[in-house]
Order: sequence, then structure tokens, then C-alpha cells
Amino acid sequence: MFKTLIYEKKENIGLLTINRPEKMNAISNELTTELKKFLDKVEKDKDLRVLVITGAGNKAFVAGADIKELIDRDASQGREVTQERQEAFSRLENLQVPVIAAVNGYALGGGLELALACSVRIASDNAQFGAPEVKLGIIPGDGGTQRLPRLVGLGRAMEMILTGDFIDAQEAFRIGLVNKVIPQKKLMEEAMALAQKIAARPPLAVRYAKEAVNRSQEGDRASGFALESYLHALTCTTEDKKEGVSAFLEKRKGKFKGK
Ligand code: COA
Repeated sequence: MFKTLIYEKKENIGLLTINRPEKMNAISNELTTELKKFLDKVEKDKDLRVLVITGAGNKAFVAGADIKELIDRDASQGREVTQERQEAFSRLENLQVPVIAAVNGYALGGGLELALACSVRIASDNAQFGAPEVKLGIIPGDGGTQRLPRLVGLGRAMEMILTGDFIDAQEAFRIGLVNKVIPQKKLMEEAMALAQKIAARPPLAVRYAKEAVNRSQEGDRASGFALESYLHALTCTTEDKKEGVSAFLEKRKGKFKGK
């Protein structure tokens, strides 16, 4: 059984809940390990038709990587952690069944990247999206620099990644980051209805359609991912990263030197 994940299956629809509500469902190393074990299991599930992912509680889907674990992240760890999470999210992106992200609150950093690896995203009206890594002196490392521009276009992705500003659910809908915005109380009902609709379609057609649509997005992604991961690793060596992470944890504004 998992500590940081809850998995339930209702008939042929799986519901994965990221479960660290006291930390806004931030992705810790333990959570990554559990996610990989979870993937080992669902990749073999022949009855599964659709997977839905949401966050525990009503505040956050996932508020990013666990910033506490960022304090000591050096370049080699930066490369390792990002490679591991990129691989896990790519496994999710290429899962044999569609994955619906039911974004029930903050989807920040790695949380945004998790949502981007899903096939479809729907959001509650209180959801907020952002790539705040730059504010911590690092860059996204879990696929964000590659997937976000493909979904919302280069300019929008640049603005989000360079400023680290959050956008609300309506803006996310406007730029095509989410397919629908739903009142929070109705989010899971709507996610399940969408899951059931897809689950009722011929499974092989759905599987191959997903694969074909995914393929349309591939340029030379391996190089893009490697570059992203190495550059993230590089930012882990900077004084600004140390300052950005400490400033967050000490609840103060960071002072950056470009070093
Ligand atoms: N990693 C670790 N802990 C996190 C976290 C993260 N990414 N995001 C939130 N938390 C923790 C907070 O430190 C706090 O813990 P505490 O109660 O022990 O102090 C708890 O979750 C609640 O968060 P808090 O900041 O008090 O809630 P809020 O409603 O004021 O703000 C956010 C919510 C999501 C806007 C804010 O927590 C935030 O900006 N988080 C970081 C987002 C980020 O930079 N993610 C990218 C990381 S690479």
C-alpha cells in the first residue's frame, strides 16, 4: 500500500489521488518512488479503460516539487531527480489508456508538469496554474519546458515560465491549457462522466488513437528533455537557488545576485 497515493478502481476506471494534503500534495522523492510502483501496476492492468488523477483536499492538485528536498539538491541530484520524474511522467503520458487530470486547486511546477503529461485536463473554478521554478532560482525539470509550449504555444509558455506568475482557471481555459472549468463541487462528477464516456468507446480504438495523437507532438524530445534536465541540474549549483529556496521556506522575499 502507498503512503502518498490513494488508488481506487470503480469498474474499469481508476482514480489516483495524490495524497499529501498538508503539504499541498507536493511531490517528494517518496512520492516519485510510489508513483513508479503505481505505474508498474497500472501498466499491466488489462481491464483498466481510463485513469483519473486528482489531488487530496480542496486546495491543491499538486503544488510542485517538495521545496524542502530542493535545499540540498546539487547538480548530480538535479539531473537524477528530473530524469526520474521525466520518465515517470512520460510513462503516464504513454499509458495504454487515457489519463484525465481533474485539477482541483493549485497545479504548480511539477504539478503543472504532471497535469501536462495527462491526456486531458479539466479544472475546478478555484484552480491556479503556474511554473514558479524561476522564482526559486531553478527551471522546470519534469518536462514543462517541452510540454507547455506544445500545448499553449511558445509565447504563452515563455511568459508563464519566465515570470513564474500564476494564471487562474478561466485564463487556463482561454489559452487551451484546460478543456473545461467546473464548479469545485462538481469537478469529480464531471471527470468521472468524461472517463465513463471514453471507457464506453472501443478500447483498442481509444488506445491507438491516443498513441497516434501523442506521436503528433514528437520532435526530438529526447534531446529537449536531456537539455532541460541538465540545465535544471546546473541551476541547482547556483547561489540564487539556495537563496530562492531559503526565502520561500523562511517566508520572505528572495534577493538574487545572478550567481
Ligand atoms: N513543497 C513543500 N512544501 C510546500 C509546497 C512545496 N512545493 N507548497 C506548499 N507547501 C507547504 C507550505 O510550506 C506549508 O507548509 P507549513 O504549513 O509546514 O508551513 C503548507 O504546504 C501550506 O502552504 P502555504 O504556503 O501555507 O499555503 P498558501 O495557501 O498560503 O499558499 C501556495 C499556497 C501553493 C501558493 C504556496 O504554498 C506556494 O507558493 N507553494 C510553492 C509553489 C512552488 O514554488 N512550487 C514549485 C516548486 S519547484
